[in-house]
Amino acid sequence: MKPAILVARAVFPEVLEKLSQHFDVTSNQEDILWTPAELIQQLQGKTGAFTTGSERIDAAVLASCPELKICANMAVGFNNFDLTAMTAAGVLATNTPDVLTETTADFGFALLLATARRMAESEHFLRAGLWNRWRYDMFAGAEVHGSTLGILGMGRIGQGIAKRGAHGFGMKVIYHNRSRLDAAREAACGASWVSKPELLKTCDHLMLVLPYSPQAHHTIGAAELAQMKPTATLVNIARGGIVDDAALAAALRQGVIAAAGLDVFEGEPKVHPDLLTVPNVVLTPHIASATTPTRLAMANLAADNLIGYLVHGKPLTALNPQVLS
Ligand code: GLV
Repeated sequence: MKPAILVARAVFPEVLEKLSQHFDVTSNQEDILWTPAELIQQLQGKTGAFTTGSERIDAAVLASCPELKICANMAVGFNNFDLTAMTAAGVLATNTPDVLTETTADFGFALLLATARRMAESEHFLRAGLWNRWRYDMFAGAEVHGSTLGILGMGRIGQGIAKRGAHGFGMKVIYHNRSRLDAAREAACGASWVSKPELLKTCDHLMLVLPYSPQAHHTIGAAELAQMKPTATLVNIARGGIVDDAALAAALRQGVIAAAGLDVFEGEPKVHPDLLTVPNVVLTPHIASATTPTRLAMANLAADNLIGYLVHGKPLTALNPQVLS
């Protein structure tokens, strides 16, 4: 008998097809957003789950699903997993690193350019029929090439953004991260380590790429925004909750910083209403990894983790490998 698994959200049909060669698959191609209780109900009798960042796997879920052995997240971030509880319950957690690094770094840069160069604001102006002349200062934004890019969090995606900035746009790249890169990696990224206050004070553009954890909650709030240049832009492609969205909306309105580009939000898919009425912010719906080849690679990696573990005993990208021993 094939092991039973749940694919909690809609996914590429070819990935479902691959999974059904190995598993008895319950899918959710209607993409219904289940409540936690419904998720628990759907997980009954399942040994594996294909999840996305929207499905919370915590102690309550684990206690109600004793047959569960693995949750394979189709995301590099895994703040929807209570990893400690999963490890304690002997449930393997996997994510999808590497396959999305370059695509996400591309998007970070796209959002930086769109924000600094006021693309969304000027497009809205044009669509509203307000463009009736050229003007010397119309939508004049901030320079990107040759400016100083600050990166908070310097994992794989941060390094991809640093390389684009340093080698593509001639930027001075500074970063802050708990652990400093070794000299060879810093040289490859064209980036130098600075303290967090120095980063905030010096950069023209601040890119957030750190993972979410309770300690990272509101890493950027009113106090941090006040340390930035009034001409600075802020880009968040990391996770909602790293920025205090209400404080950011107020700072944008008051000119504490010049502009922001946000792909992630506190409590998404809800967006803080104040952000919706501020003109100098570019808003995108958590799409930094969204190219078809990358999303397919992420889905395949999540599927291969399920097959690797449940069929061959070898997952590809385990987050809590302690469970394997
Ligand atoms: C997207 O946010 C991811 O973590 O992959």
